[in-house]
Amino acid sequence: DDTKAGVKGLIDAGVASLPRIFIRPPDELVEELNLGYSQAEVPVIDLSGIETDDQRKSILDELRQVSEEWGFFRVVNHGIPSSVLDGMIDGTCKFHEQDAELKKEYYSRDQFQKVRYESNIDLYRSGVANWRDTMTINLLYSNEVVPDELPEICRSSAMDYINHVTKLAETLFELLSEALGIKVDNLRAMECARGRTFVCHYYPACPEPDLTLGVSRHTDPAFLTILLQDHIGGLQFLHDNNWTDVPPIPGGLVVNIADLLQIVSNDKFKSREHRVIANRIGPRISVACFFIGVAVPEKIYYPAKELISDETPPVYREFTVGEYMSNFFSRPIDKSGLDHFKI
Ligand code: SIN
Ligand code: FE2
Repeated sequence: DDTKAGVKGLIDAGVASLPRIFIRPPDELVEELNLGYSQAEVPVIDLSGIETDDQRKSILDELRQVSEEWGFFRVVNHGIPSSVLDGMIDGTCKFHEQDAELKKEYYSRDQFQKVRYESNIDLYRSGVANWRDTMTINLLYSNEVVPDELPEICRSSAMDYINHVTKLAETLFELLSEALGIKVDNLRAMECARGRTFVCHYYPACPEPDLTLGVSRHTDPAFLTILLQDHIGGLQFLHDNNWTDVPPIPGGLVVNIADLLQIVSNDKFKSREHRVIANRIGPRISVACFFIGVAVPEKIYYPAKELISDETPPVYREFTVGEYMSNFFSRPIDKSGLDHFKI
C-alpha cells in the first residue's frame, strides 16, 4: 500500500534522506557530470501570422532547421489560451494532491487502462527509481475522450487541454511534412496525431537532489511530444553532447521530435535524449502529450519513400507497431529506441 502513496507519500511521511532505490550509482553520476553544460537558448518557433504565405514560408524554413539540428524547440503564439494551460497544470496538481484514498482508486500498472496513476512509471525499465509520480490518460486505443472516464478533480481542464493540444499537433504535423518535403506521405494523412497519451507528472521537492533524477535520460517513443511545464524547470536535453536547460517561459509549450519521426524522416529530423533533474523545491508539474500514430499491432512504419534515393538510402527497415511496442517495453529506458530498427 506504501507504493500507492508514491514519491509524494514519502515526502508526506517526512522522509528527509533518499531511500536507497532512488540513489544513482556513483559511476553513472560521474559519467553524467562529465558531459558538459551548454548555455544555448532553445529555439523558438513563433506561429503567429501562419495564414499569410510569406510568414508560413519563413516558419517552415525555421522549423526545418530546428528539427534537423536541435530536435527540441518552443512554440509561442500557438493559439492555446493561457487559461487552458494553467487549468491543466492546476488540474494535474489537484489530482496528485487529492485525498490519497481517492487517488489510489486509479492506481494501476496496466498499460491498457484508460486512466491510471502510479509512481515510477518506468521502474521496470530503469535500474534506479526516479523521483516522480504520474497520472496517465491513455487515448491510444480509442480516439474518443469520454469525459466520465476522466478523474472528476481535473475532468474539465483535461478535456479542454486535450482538445486544444490535439489541434496544435495536427497543425504541427502538417507543417513538419511540408518542412520535410513529403507531400504524398503527409504526416497528417498518416494519422500521427491519432493515438495519444497524456502523461501528467508530479515531481515532489527532493531532499537530496544531487543523488537522483526526476527521470533518466531517454528519447520518446512517439512521433512528436508536446510538453507543458510549470514555472519550476529541470528539463534538459542533449545538444552537441551538452546538457541544455529548457527553462519554463509563460505560455510557451516545448515540442520535441521523437523516435518515430526520426525514423519516418530517415534521420533528417532528430529525436534528442533528455532528462529531468531533481530539485530541492517543488512540486514541479509537467504534462507530456505523446502523439504515437496508429496504435494497431499490424500497422507498418518505414522511412518515407520520397526521402529515399541512391544518395540517401533507407537507414531503417520496415517494422510493425507490435514489434515497436515490444522493443520499447523490453529495453532499458536509456538505450536507444532507434538502433533495433536500423538496416
Ligand atoms: C519526460 O521527458 O519524461 C518528462 C519531461 C518533463 O517532465 O519535463
Ligand atoms: Fe521524454
